[in-house]
Amino acid sequence: MDMMKTLADPAFRNDILACFEEPRHAIPARWLYDRAGSELFEQITELPEYYPTRTETALLKRYCGEVAQLGERGRAVVEFGSGSSTKTPHLLRALDTAAYVPIDISGDFLAHSSRELQKQFPDLPIHPLEADFMHRLDLPEQVADMPKLGFFPGSTIGNMIARTSVDLLRSMRETLGVGSQLLIGFDRIKDEEIVVAAYDDSAGVTAQFSLNLLHRINSEMDGTIPVEAFRHIAIWNDLYARIEIYLEAQSDVSFTIEDKSNAMTKGQRLHIENSHKYGLRDARLMLRAGGWSPIAEWSDEQDYFTLILAEAHPSKHAP
Ligand code: AVI
Repeated sequence: MDMMKTLADPAFRNDILACFEEPRHAIPARWLYDRAGSELFEQITELPEYYPTRTETALLKRYCGEVAQLGERGRAVVEFGSGSSTKTPHLLRALDTAAYVPIDISGDFLAHSSRELQKQFPDLPIHPLEADFMHRLDLPEQVADMPKLGFFPGSTIGNMIARTSVDLLRSMRETLGVGSQLLIGFDRIKDEEIVVAAYDDSAGVTAQFSLNLLHRINSEMDGTIPVEAFRHIAIWNDLYARIEIYLEAQSDVSFTIEDKSNAMTKGQRLHIENSHKYGLRDARLMLRAGGWSPIAEWSDEQDYFTLILAEAHPSKHAP
């Protein structure tokens, strides 16, 4: 028996088995991020075609002083899905940050990035929280009385359908509390060729990132999927204003997953990710629907990406 084999997360197993039961095969995008997937995603963020990371980082560097002025001093910064926390130092430095709470579902990644960040900020209290930020969370009691700034960069919200995004914004409001602020990144609607290239890069890194999901299924669920028979496809869906990512079978294939037989015909697809893009009004409306009132926004010269600062105002009766 292979002692190094990773035990599959029960939720991952359920989602994979359910995917092949349904006529339209879809797998939640969160499963793209095992260790190999997270490393490939880090590589994506540095690709010439992938504009979101560098555009947002430049916005943060340029405008974090304004973010600081628009809120109280001595805030706790709470980052949702902190990953490698690469953009955070700009914000932590500009704000007179009293504490930092990185939240991530991957404990490994969280511990590593918290240690790295502590080296850069030796005096900053860091309270990592290993949790699924899709639900309301209890924050560490050390930050209970501090004013809070939620940070949700990267347009990660774009990987959710609208209903899930609004649910998430509402649970963030509950987690952070009335009176808190949220700084959130939105990838904007732009020319189709630019967006498609960002998700189908010439070096093929995004294709590897997608195909890694099949390797993950094979290794964690004793699968025999012939990975080389699948192709990564990125399509712009204008009606939904989103990139859709599929893995398409290039020939008829049959394989097993945990001894269960499956077959896909040539051209059949697995839908593995959506990445929604937003107009400014879409983004503002989404925030309001989730209980957040936009108070300021910053975009780059090409309007490729926008950072919005919003506040959780007390609920008021509306006409
Ligand atoms: C994490 N997320 C915001 C990325 C995006 O742009 O939707 C994930 C990604 N998938 C392929 N390339 C990047």
